[in-house]
Amino acid sequence: MPSPQTRSFCGEIRGNQVGETISLCGWVDRRRDHGGVVFLDLRDRSGLVQIVADPVRTPIAYPQAEHLRAEYVVRVTGRVTARPADSLNPKLPTGEVEIYADQIELLNEVSKQLPFMVASAEGETVKEELRLRYRYLDLRRERMTRNLQLRHQVVKAIRRYLEDEGNFTEIETPILTKSTPEGARDYLVPSRVNPGDWYALPQSPQLFKQLLMVSGFDRYYQIARCFRDEDLRADRQPEFTQLDMEMSFMELEEILTLNEGLVSHIFQQVQGITIPRPFPRLTYAEAMDRYGCDKPDTRYGLELVDVSDVLKDSGFKVFAGAIAAGGIVKILPIPGGDQAISNVRIKPGGDIFKEAAEAGARGLAYIRVRENLEFDTIGAIKDNLTPEQKQEIIRRTGAEPGHLLLFAADNSIVVNKSLDRLRQYIAKELNLIPADKINLLWVVDFPMFEWNTEEKRLEALHHPFTAPHPEDLADLKTARAQAYDLIFNGVEVGGGSRRIHQRPIQEQVFTAIGLSTAEAHAKFGFLLEAFEFGTPPHGGIAYGLDRLVMLLAGEDSIRDVIAFPKTQQARCLLTEAPSGVDLKQLKELQVASTVESRK
Ligand code: AMO
Repeated sequence: MPSPQTRSFCGEIRGNQVGETISLCGWVDRRRDHGGVVFLDLRDRSGLVQIVADPVRTPIAYPQAEHLRAEYVVRVTGRVTARPADSLNPKLPTGEVEIYADQIELLNEVSKQLPFMVASAEGETVKEELRLRYRYLDLRRERMTRNLQLRHQVVKAIRRYLEDEGNFTEIETPILTKSTPEGARDYLVPSRVNPGDWYALPQSPQLFKQLLMVSGFDRYYQIARCFRDEDLRADRQPEFTQLDMEMSFMELEEILTLNEGLVSHIFQQVQGITIPRPFPRLTYAEAMDRYGCDKPDTRYGLELVDVSDVLKDSGFKVFAGAIAAGGIVKILPIPGGDQAISNVRIKPGGDIFKEAAEAGARGLAYIRVRENLEFDTIGAIKDNLTPEQKQEIIRRTGAEPGHLLLFAADNSIVVNKSLDRLRQYIAKELNLIPADKINLLWVVDFPMFEWNTEEKRLEALHHPFTAPHPEDLADLKTARAQAYDLIFNGVEVGGGSRRIHQRPIQEQVFTAIGLSTAEAHAKFGFLLEAFEFGTPPHGGIAYGLDRLVMLLAGEDSIRDVIAFPKTQQARCLLTEAPSGVDLKQLKELQVASTVESRK
């Protein structure tokens, strides 16, 4: 019998091994009894291979094979044999061979009914709840095995590039730490030995990586776990993984070039795809203008057109009124939209109206472009367009017969939000998104701050450690930031900035976001102090590793590329976390719950 060291992997057996005796360990994927011959598909993480047992050629293994069922764990020793010509399986990488089993050793059996079959049948779907409850079984399935291996390949490519080509050092930063605000709620951990004091789990290693630059590490990276208590979506988890990087003495251009090298390397290594460099760039202002959002999917057109200047004196009160109040009017021109989208869908109660309303719009005006560029529309808009306005709308939108022009008029936030949403909704419906296209794009020149209407104060758009553009130092409130986001097919996969490294500027930014000197000291005194001991200019970026892998894997949810994810309700269905704890534990921590049932 071959020694354990020579154990082979099921998915790797090939025709050139015919005649070898090998040993395999794995799970029975399927068992088929063809009257006197038993076929087993044996599975391990590398794939499947067919095992054969019959009374004549494999007299010892045959009775052993008869008792096997799906998901039993076995060790098989046998001879690699070429399959007969009529039973080759071109769908399987191992489809040219089968293993005649000399010996099948049962290592463990299944004693409960399986909640679902691991061997997935074509088109079959298992409810996600069940998959998460029995995640260890779900991870045996081909799709999940493939996704986690892809994730591993991505991390491996990252490490090779950053360490071998970029001279980066991997350094771990604390998990029990002080809160660094990245805009979400913190997960808090009580300190038993310091009653009344709390650690926060890191939302990102932001301040530690900056301090590592003060220490002189120059080029740092970390595959870092981050924790954010925020509302969950398909691309958000309460704990997720960042590829976190920070570099000293690099200009913005150098940072972007290095990162384009890294991202291209990942694509080359894991998908064999060459991404053209440099990556395209859009300024924040341009992205908002043309797409209504700062992470546009540029795989398709449907660009927005601002017509505020054309319609500011319009007799149509909805337009003129919105513009007079400081708002804007924009058009989403949809080629072929005249046929595809009926009036009922745009009016209250219709799905298009509903999409826009969910983004805050109060209504949508529309024009159908007919033969000879005649405008077909209803209501007040019809009688209130001058020939010049009509001409200008046609010119700017490139309207042709068959176009539908959807108009939104409101403040710029509502207009952009609603047309961005409609742009994506309609692109999906009209199949305008080429599935295999890869669009990577930097969005740059973000504003430093945005207005938080609820709290009535400025808020850092990225985070308050982002450096202002050197040309805009005179007025920080309107300054552009030296920040950049990497967008992959409309998903923000990474974001970073050059940082402030001088105490006075950092203090000014804290003041601009409404932090008093005392608050700034209490929260970030250690950072301000560090800035006084010789801090190099520095900058960095963090990628959402889960999101990147999700897109590379062609999945729609980051849950499908995380081994043990949480549900939308932030629960782990497998371990049933979060759960209640003993009163004794709470007492020790000097913490009391205010929830009645937990008392
Ligand atoms: P930011 O907050 O933009 O930047 O996060 C960086 C990237 O992390 C991913 N991401 C998430 N992925 C899954 N679930 C979440 N809840 C989640 N939140 C964010 C996104 C995002 O682009 N410290 C800065 C980076 C820096 O400036 O260097 C930061 O954390 O893909």
